[in-house]
Amino acid sequence: MYVCLCQGVTDGQIRDAIYDGCCSYRDVRETLGVASQCGKCACLAKQVVRETLSEV
Ligand code: FES
Repeated sequence: MYVCLCQGVTDGQIRDAIYDGCCSYRDVRETLGVASQCGKCACLAKQVVRETLSEV
């Protein structure tokens, strides 16, 4: 599922970024560019990051 339409970032990509070493929402944002345009996806993106971090 797409989390960020502006940047075309999926929840899978966010998970992969965390498995590859990102350890915060800020890391993910810098790596994938998520929420760097309209910002509407920030809330959902944070949620995916939080969920994934609680699993690893
Ligand atoms: Fe992510 Fe617009 S949907 S910045």
